[in-house]
Amino acid sequence: MDAISKNFFLYLSKNSTLDRMAKRWGSKFGADRIVGGESFDGAIQVIQGMNRQGIAVTVDHLGEFIHSAEEAKLRCQESIQTIRKISEHNLNSQMSVKVTSLGLDISAELVWENMLKIMDEAVKYDVFITIDMEDSSRCGKTLDLYKALKERYDNIGTVIQSYLYRSSRDLDELNELDPVLRLVKGAYKEPAEVAFQEKYKVDENLKHLIKKNLLNGNFTSIASHDDAIIEYTKDLVKEHHIPTDQFEFQMLYGMRSDTQVQLVKEGYPVRVYMPYGTDWYGYFMRRLAERPANVSFALRGMFKK
Ligand code: FDA
Repeated sequence: MDAISKNFFLYLSKNSTLDRMAKRWGSKFGADRIVGGESFDGAIQVIQGMNRQGIAVTVDHLGEFIHSAEEAKLRCQESIQTIRKISEHNLNSQMSVKVTSLGLDISAELVWENMLKIMDEAVKYDVFITIDMEDSSRCGKTLDLYKALKERYDNIGTVIQSYLYRSSRDLDELNELDPVLRLVKGAYKEPAEVAFQEKYKVDENLKHLIKKNLLNGNFTSIASHDDAIIEYTKDLVKEHHIPTDQFEFQMLYGMRSDTQVQLVKEGYPVRVYMPYGTDWYGYFMRRLAERPANVSFALRGMFKK
């Protein structure tokens, strides 16, 4: 996809009027192809189906543009319910959270309180939590929150984006905490002051981060649909005899499903990130920005009854 269309979809992803309209449309425009269900209950069967194929899951309750403490508390309650249901249904699933939906932009106290409630429940039910990484203006605050939580809880990880210049340094600073990290290229529109603009530099930096984090001995989720990154990782783990309990491949639900199954067949651990909920607009737009094929099924969805 050319840079203009990519930027256009990333610009649209931040439009809160369209976001509100999208909630009314329901998951038309092909969104149901990449969203597990409109509620967690609706997604349970889909998760069980993935689990039967040997694929683990991390679920994410969709939601951005949170403006009130009340909303953030509701989202926290929803996360707690999700943790309980993962355990109740014996699902092979972790949970991912976006800290802006838990109050990061409202106050440090609010997001801290909400995260403590979620983490206490996650410990009780033995569910691993990953804090997703959002745009660069929130990166420092999100990592500070992660570090503070990691001092108290083992079952928590976060995400490092290879498009940011700061990421290699962040990896070094996190290293003393034995971090559990998902490494990605990065999904937001970022300026040249903070992020590589050339794709090959983002790709090279992702390889650099994967190697560094694995050789540091930390658990690493390689979250990419890119064959070059997957092949690089396979060669690296072979060369350094890195065991399969120190890493996993992660992909988004609905993307490269055949490759997910193939990796499982080859003996690699695979986890699928499965969003659920009605708040699919921002997530969907970022996926459109990433890949032209996502656009074509979205357009077909517009004419679906
Ligand atoms: P990229 O988009 O660079 O594509 C490279 C090549 O891969 C393509 O040219 C094509 O050959 C192949 N390819 C890609 N998609 C394909 C498809 N659907 N079908 C077939 N081939 C395909 N970002 C973020 O900022 N914060 C976060 O917390 C997360 N979390 C996250 C979790 C998981 C599990 C994943 C997979 C991704 C994220 N991301 C993310 C998104 C991430 O930053 C990135 O935007 C996307 O994964 C796209 O980059 P890729 O590395 O997948 O390939």
